[in-house]
Amino acid sequence: MDNVDNVLDLAKRRGLFWPSYEIYGGVGGLYDLGHIGVRVKNKIVSLWRRLFIEDHSDLIVEIETPIITPKRVLEASGHVQNFTDPVVECLNCHRVFRADHLVEGALHTSAEGLSTKELTSLIVSKGLKCPQCGGQLGEVRTFNLLFSTTIGPYSGDVGFLRPETAQGMFTSFKRVFVSAREKLPLGIAQVGRVARNEISPRQGLLRMREFTIMEMEFFIDPIKQAEPPLHRVNEERLNVLSADAKVKGDRPSQYKVEELLIEKIVIHPWMAYWMAISNRFVTNIGVQPDSTYFEEKLPQERAHYSSQTFDQLVILGEDKIEISGHAYRSDYDLKNHMKLSGEDMTVFRRFDQPKIIRNKKIQIKSRDKALSSALMEFLKGKSSEEVEAAIRDGKSVGGVQLGELVTVESVEEKVSGEKFIPHVIEPSFGAERCLYVAVLAAYREREGRTVLSLPVNISPYHVAVFPLLSKDEMENKALRIAEMLRGKFEVLYDSSGSIGKRYARVDEIGVPFAVTIDGDTMKDGTVTIRDRDSWSQIRVKESELMETLNKLFNGEKLERLGIPVKGDR
Ligand code: ATP
Ligand code: GLY
Repeated sequence: MDNVDNVLDLAKRRGLFWPSYEIYGGVGGLYDLGHIGVRVKNKIVSLWRRLFIEDHSDLIVEIETPIITPKRVLEASGHVQNFTDPVVECLNCHRVFRADHLVEGALHTSAEGLSTKELTSLIVSKGLKCPQCGGQLGEVRTFNLLFSTTIGPYSGDVGFLRPETAQGMFTSFKRVFVSAREKLPLGIAQVGRVARNEISPRQGLLRMREFTIMEMEFFIDPIKQAEPPLHRVNEERLNVLSADAKVKGDRPSQYKVEELLIEKIVIHPWMAYWMAISNRFVTNIGVQPDSTYFEEKLPQERAHYSSQTFDQLVILGEDKIEISGHAYRSDYDLKNHMKLSGEDMTVFRRFDQPKIIRNKKIQIKSRDKALSSALMEFLKGKSSEEVEAAIRDGKSVGGVQLGELVTVESVEEKVSGEKFIPHVIEPSFGAERCLYVAVLAAYREREGRTVLSLPVNISPYHVAVFPLLSKDEMENKALRIAEMLRGKFEVLYDSSGSIGKRYARVDEIGVPFAVTIDGDTMKDGTVTIRDRDSWSQIRVKESELMETLNKLFNGEKLERLGIPVKGDR
């Protein structure tokens, strides 16, 4: 990315973001968001909430669960065993690198999903050396990215900081299901902090060790599920690189959502639907539609819980940045939590017609009280089929043949439905990556100045209000106008420095319009409105200011809404 250094510089200078704990030298992967960064990030989160939750409020609810997670939960989810990345250490300078990234950097080929053995043998056979000192590299090992802690004082109770918010949604699934509407599909969404002890935190907000995730677990009945409202995403065109195309070395192709389903590129209609909503979200934060595409992960590249994954990538200059992940998690998580917690995670699927089924039932014949507790102990946890087999094998309990104590009989039953574990589709975005991508995509240079052309829906303020000069009369008027606009818009008031400097400052943080109160305002009640992107200005009556701004935010052109004027730039 050509502009990265300029963007990092702008971010520090204008209060977007900077390395945390700078006065102590900083810590890799930890970032503060400044006063402007927080405003833009909050807008991005609001946009995500609107597109994913509010536009589907009949299906999706939002919850909040803790960051500190007991070990048992992440054992059930597989993170304790599988949430690892490969590392390699330089035997000379002892720097540690992420092995797959090191190989990718040196050989310009994907190394994602290769085993530690495969990576080690590539490093040896290709003679790869330490990128820092040229020293010899050691064996590739795995490194678990979970941050661990203990829960409670002097406690041996191990906990971790969550690496994803998803597990909170899985462990609370039954409670939300029952308290919401006991119907599928049901989406449970969450926006919250997560922590990953990344091996090589990189550039800006791309690879952080603590960040905000916006994710949704969409629970479905895998057999009998209401179709998604595909008409709502008819106009979306998705660039998709399927696994097949990727293996052949092809480029992404453009598809309508329904084509992705007809051609069986995406395994579930709801997964394709959420990919389309994600496409809309990413273009709404300022990414050009032809600069984003979905790339299917090959089986060896997928996370341990996923049966199909697409990463959504954004192309910025030479770089591709993963902005979201879309995984078909099947019943993997709920099934494992059910196994480890012993809690029932199933829901009930009603049949269209009741069914008559034959079931094998265990009947107790013996009335012998002395034997009953040994018999109960023997039967505990055994299915009818297992008991039947034990009778066949001539097993005895308390010295009596099992066949004399129990029988297994076949009985007819009328059943109205069955229990099953829901499947899950998950779209997951990193909020700071979205912020970073939005800033990079909006960065422009014009006549030696910087302009952040953020879309109006994520700009930190809607409008700036400036008195041209710091005269009491002009300032009071400007303050009154700012107050009036605050009823409808987010306003930045600024009276310090020359007007040119103030325009430059608001251009740099991406405020789309600036209203200036000058000498003429005091005479004829008109103000100027300046457009961030064209630097054009118009004069309008103060009484029409609110309406004119409304029209501008509805996309009308500045030049059509007032008398063009030449002003300071
Ligand atoms: P990567 O391959 O870049 O490590 P990932 O595949 O581990 O990412 P996911 O686990 O799918 O990422 O996480 C979901 C989303 O969270 C990503 O698409 C990205 O937007 C964001 N994300 C992941 N890791 C980080 C990080 N270290 N810093 C900032 N955002 C991140
Ligand atoms: N929940 C998705 C992920 O963390 O990868």
